[in-house]
Amino acid sequence: MVVSVRSLGLSGISGYEVSVECSLSGGLPSFEVVGLPDAAVRESRERVRSAVKNCGAKFPVSRITVNLAPARVRKEGTLYDLPIFLGLLCAADELKALPPDAAFVGELSLSGAVRGVTGILPMALHAARCGIRSLYVPAENAAEATLADGIQVYGVRDVNELVAHLRGEAPIAPAPVWHPVADQRPLPDMADVMGQENVKRALEVAAAGGHNVLLIGSPGSGKSMLARRLPSILPPMRYEESMQTTEIYSVAGLTDAAAPLVTHRPFRAPHHTASPVSLSGGGTIPRPGEISLAHNGVLFLDELPEFDKAALETLRAPLEDGVVTITRVSGSLTLPSRFMLVCAMNPCRCGWYGHPSGRCTCSAPQVESYLRRISGPLLDRIDMHIEVPSVEYDAMRRRTPQEDSAAVRRRVDAARSRQTERFAGTGITCNAYMPPSMIGQYCALDSAGEALMKNAFDRLGLTGRSHDRILRMARTIADLDGSEQIAPSHLAEAIQYRSNNILK
Ligand SMILES: Nc1ncnc2c1ncn2[C@@H]1O[C@H](COP(=O)(O)OP(=O)(O)OP(=O)(O)O)[C@@H](O)[C@H]1O
Ligand SMILES: [Mg+2]
Ligand SMILES: [Zn+2]
Repeated sequence: MVVSVRSLGLSGISGYEVSVECSLSGGLPSFEVVGLPDAAVRESRERVRSAVKNCGAKFPVSRITVNLAPARVRKEGTLYDLPIFLGLLCAADELKALPPDAAFVGELSLSGAVRGVTGILPMALHAARCGIRSLYVPAENAAEATLADGIQVYGVRDVNELVAHLRGEAPIAPAPVWHPVADQRPLPDMADVMGQENVKRALEVAAAGGHNVLLIGSPGSGKSMLARRLPSILPPMRYEESMQTTEIYSVAGLTDAAAPLVTHRPFRAPHHTASPVSLSGGGTIPRPGEISLAHNGVLFLDELPEFDKAALETLRAPLEDGVVTITRVSGSLTLPSRFMLVCAMNPCRCGWYGHPSGRCTCSAPQVESYLRRISGPLLDRIDMHIEVPSVEYDAMRRRTPQEDSAAVRRRVDAARSRQTERFAGTGITCNAYMPPSMIGQYCALDSAGEALMKNAFDRLGLTGRSHDRILRMARTIADLDGSEQIAPSHLAEAIQYRSNNILK
């Protein structure tokens, strides 16, 4: 007799349907799992065997074959424990047929408790798409599964509870649909930063248009402090953005069981010892890297020159395309990674190059070799190169009240609304992601602007890419100003963010 139990699998951050087929046949007792299982799936046998015994059922003494279809796709993880368990009970007539529109995922402990798994949200979304009406998941994953519309979710704590439910003896109540509540946790605020008006303005422009920023300055000038206050001026996440980012967090096992939806734009700040894999994703069981976890948010690389060169090089393609491709033995995998890059660095090894105190001890070639650690192609992808001067004594001591993040954010939001309207229906969210084909239309310059651009192009030795990036920034500055036309003053400000005395 062959029984088939519906389940789900995960490929990258997409779910797909898996059919778990169990067959009992005569012959020497054995228990085999086929259909490209990884080690964790093969180990299911021991967990299932023990869980069957612990729930009081008899473990079938026959030749057991479990096939995970489609057999050509590699199956990973422990989530098939539960469907294999159910398949065995049905094949052994301990349970009647399962509802045809139900699917099951979950890891089992030896005692039959159902443990949480990763990637529930993308699997639940797929279940809803392929006609599954009820989804049985580990209790701790239930809230997350209810984010998918159109399916009834049951959170299961242990197999006894599930068996009683399926036999109609003691029904489990469907999990209540989880609704996000406004997150009131305060974020670090721009009002804490004294002075630094120019840098704050640059961050406002960056937040308004989604542009990449590099902050350069001596130790203690406030670079890390400023960067960490960026989330407080970013526009709120739209629901679709929250769902996309939550899918990635789900696969990485980082969702919060009690509040599963990511509602704050991520701010990821990996340490400079991060490996290429931890930054861009990968591994035997592929996990999203920091650049995918920063999707729809900020990737902050503090002490940029200390990062491994190979790790930084992996950022190049994602910075252009908004996706990262991970190559694996079994084929390649594409994950979303559309993030705002914010970097901070000192101008030289000792840190004080250009400081008014003159205490830099580096020779000119030393300064140059330090700056050369950041490759040209990476620098070219960073729109704004901002010098952070040492804060002046007066500004620091006077402690006059500074503009708070809420006020900045109102301007950012207004500029974003203009962009949302401009790009309606295109899937583009902000000026930074405007494709070259739209630049002609939305970033037209008047004759004074043309002259300014030509002069800057020659003087700064711009590339085609940096030319386009300046135009996108100018578009954002005009949006902050509420202007449809890019005026020469808007363009001049954008150009200034690109010309830097230290990087030249
Ligand atoms: N403009 C400022 N207003 C208020 N506090 C400041 C300012 N600049 C620096 N500070 C104080 O100095 C501390 C150090 O700043 P921060 O860590 O941001 O410096 P940094 O530029 O990142 O230095 P490093 O190059 O050493 O990493 C801050 O935590 C804050 O207490
Ligand atoms: Mg710092
Ligand atoms: Zn120095």
